Amino acid sequence: MGRPIPSSSQNSLTVRDNRTGKSIEIAIEDNSIPATAFKALSAAPEKGEREENETDKGLRVSDKGFLNTAVMRSQITYIDGEAGVLRYRGYPIEELAVHSSHLETAYLLIYGSLPTSSQLEVWESEVMHHGVVHADAEQFFRSFRYDAHPMAILTSAFAYLGSYYSEANPSLQGQTLFTQGSPESLAVMDKQIYRLIGKATTLAAMAYRVRQGRSFVTPPTGFSYTGSFLYQMDHLGEENYKPNPVLEKALDVLFLLHADHELNASATTVLQTGSSLVDPYSAIAAGCASLYGPLHGGANEAVIRMLISIGSPANVPAFIEAVKKREKVLSGFGHRVYKTSDPRSFIVRKTADEVFKVTGKDELLETAMALHEAAMKDEYFIKRKLAPNVDFCSGLIYRAMGFPLDFFPVLFAVPRVVGWLAHWRQMMLQPGGVKIWRPRQIYVGASKREYVAVEERSPVEGLQKTPSQISHSGISKRTMIATFKGSKL
Ligand code: CMC
Repeated sequence: MGRPIPSSSQNSLTVRDNRTGKSIEIAIEDNSIPATAFKALSAAPEKGEREENETDKGLRVSDKGFLNTAVMRSQITYIDGEAGVLRYRGYPIEELAVHSSHLETAYLLIYGSLPTSSQLEVWESEVMHHGVVHADAEQFFRSFRYDAHPMAILTSAFAYLGSYYSEANPSLQGQTLFTQGSPESLAVMDKQIYRLIGKATTLAAMAYRVRQGRSFVTPPTGFSYTGSFLYQMDHLGEENYKPNPVLEKALDVLFLLHADHELNASATTVLQTGSSLVDPYSAIAAGCASLYGPLHGGANEAVIRMLISIGSPANVPAFIEAVKKREKVLSGFGHRVYKTSDPRSFIVRKTADEVFKVTGKDELLETAMALHEAAMKDEYFIKRKLAPNVDFCSGLIYRAMGFPLDFFPVLFAVPRVVGWLAHWRQMMLQPGGVKIWRPRQIYVGASKREYVAVEERSPVEGLQKTPSQISHSGISKRTMIATFKGSKL
């Protein structure tokens, strides 16, 4: 229930429950208070009400969507959303984007400091040497349909990968496998980190190639992280094939920018999943699933679909009006933490200029710029402090580079594996051990009911059809196939 409060301390909060007159004093530490302190407050239940009433169980702190709930003490990433500041382990994102690389930044995020040259050499070599996957993986990837969304493939692939490494599974090796902090335990952890980062690009490239009907490529040696990734996607047997260095560098900058963003939905999902002490492959697969949604890592794909639907700058005003009426969503704008422009968005725009010099400008750029300008001067967006986030422009770069639209979230997930692992490692090694993440609910359902025999029940509201109404003609099955095809063509 938090630390004891010295009697002279003013660093505390006094709370009075007006239902009972009871007061409690709660210590403030790091500008936060423990939610468990409120359990000391409860209203005395009326006689006879006890088993149906939540009020006698201690006051709950309600925070749908985690708007103001801190679940970790973290040393990894700092965001000041009002000022538009983002730092990894204290280093401003702008400096890292200019001076560092994705893999060097990965080391920083996971281990806490920039590596020396020998540490960097070992780190890069370990990650790059763990790129190869078992030959059987080919069958796994080939089992997906030609038009499977690559995020569905990638999410499954991370879970599949875990099936190879029984030595990394706490269910098999003992629950303290990753929490001991012993040299052996840290070495097992490091190995999984190399594997997951090293193979992330391989799995993503395989998810890409299987849909192109191409054979798979073994990760090459002597390439950078993004160079190897592009090679694995694009190599078609040419001798001495090398990806374009400008695009390789641009992708590396984008990877670095996407490497971490503190406790967003997917990082939280990784920690929630990891808190049961499951293996890291399962936790990363869960993170992938969370990232896939259009409010999070799927927003880069959603931005392009939105721009295509708008069509041209002339249609922007009507689109903005539809957003204000909540008929449409302006993807790539707004953020839970930033109340000004996302600092990554400026670096993405500079990177876009470099990429467009090689690829030519994307035809959607003008519509994007018109949309940006219209939103930034519209009262609706100004009042709500809505500004472009990292996804507003990143999709235009990926499109210019020729990636398929549905591959964009994969280009977010691959570098984010780094951040997920940094948070997972921090949680495994946190003082006091891991506590399972098990939130509470506010129960608002029925109170105790007697079981009713089936013949005595009245129809349940909301149930669409009773079995007798369901047609057995088979027409619904044929309709399903037709709809599916129609939506694809
Ligand atoms: N377009 C129009 N209105 C918006 C938008 C938007 N993109 N984002 C927020 N609002 C409105 C929202 O309707 C609300 O208005 P009101 O107070 O009148 O109800 C107000 O702004 C506050 O927004 P919120 O929904 O309470 O904010 P949130 O913190 O719950 O949601 C968000 C954050 C990112 C999910 C949301 O801004 C959004 O849906 N943006 C579009 C999707 C997107 O670009 N996601 C990528 C986020 S950055 C990359 C990443 O890390 O995932």
